[in-house]
Amino acid sequence: MPLPLPKAELHLHIEGTLEPELAFALAARNGVTLPYADTEQLREAYLFSDLQSFLDLYYELMAVLHTVDDFTELADAYLARAAAQGVRHAEIFFDPQAHTARGIPIGTVIEGLARALDGAEERHGVSTRLIMCFLRDESAESAMATLEAAKPYLHRITGVGLDSAEVGHPPSKFREVYAAAEALGLRKVAHAGEEGPPDYIREALDVLGVERIDHGLRCVEDPELVERLVRERVPLTLCPLSNVRLRAIDVLEDHPLASMLEAGLMATVNSDDPAYFGGYVGDTFDAVRGALGLDREQMRTLARNSFEASFLDDDEDRRAR
Ligand code: ADE
Ligand code: ZN
Repeated sequence: MPLPLPKAELHLHIEGTLEPELAFALAARNGVTLPYADTEQLREAYLFSDLQSFLDLYYELMAVLHTVDDFTELADAYLARAAAQGVRHAEIFFDPQAHTARGIPIGTVIEGLARALDGAEERHGVSTRLIMCFLRDESAESAMATLEAAKPYLHRITGVGLDSAEVGHPPSKFREVYAAAEALGLRKVAHAGEEGPPDYIREALDVLGVERIDHGLRCVEDPELVERLVRERVPLTLCPLSNVRLRAIDVLEDHPLASMLEAGLMATVNSDDPAYFGGYVGDTFDAVRGALGLDREQMRTLARNSFEASFLDDDEDRRAR
């Protein structure tokens, strides 16, 4: 078996790495009753029709996460799996509002994740960054309150992101929150063009000033936008297995990744929510290589793009590779 390509993962929701086995173990530890008999029955629920049908289960299962240790265990398990698949650097999303809404303090979440991330270089050979996401189907006021609540932990947080149900919640809804985040020195990314239209990608760039677009899949419907993304070298953190599981595309063989690379887009490949979508990032690299017939040079381009699009500074970037 050849060693996996060294790569960075830039689009990974830590709550989306909650495997059924860990969910049941944490449920037992925290006295939570899950509405599934066992891991097998839970896995049977992983048949999604769209983003919302996935989000319903994703938020439901988070009920098992209670303590600092739970978040540490979750993140450490991800880092071990990612490292085994060649990940040298991971920029990890988390959804504080999904936890504070359940009465879990933001400090519990961040402290728990930070404990796993602090030891990640020594334990797993993976450098890390944390990106705090706002839930776009919640209000802008709630996002602003979340940014305020995160202020004691800003030394732990590299940037902000925007996720959850996209359609009907355009990036412009969060103009002030992103301006406040920028004033605090935070980097900026946002999900756009996963289910939402190409104009959401434009808004994320022009109104929020993001440095990367998470997904960006639907840019292919708009040649003028593609031209701009190529010209400005805007990284897209694509998640091909997620696109298939959430029915944005029918089968992986139809994914536009190869033509996006050919068009000169700064595409990267990521796992999104690997416990739910059938693979971690190394599995995703293998799957797209097989389904789309990508050659070695294209695979190397994807790996190179992942470091180039990361928030590592240049020195760290070279060391991680
Ligand atoms: N939260 C977790 N995964 C997500 C995705 N693929 N899109 C939007 N929000 C998410
Ligand atoms: Zn995502």
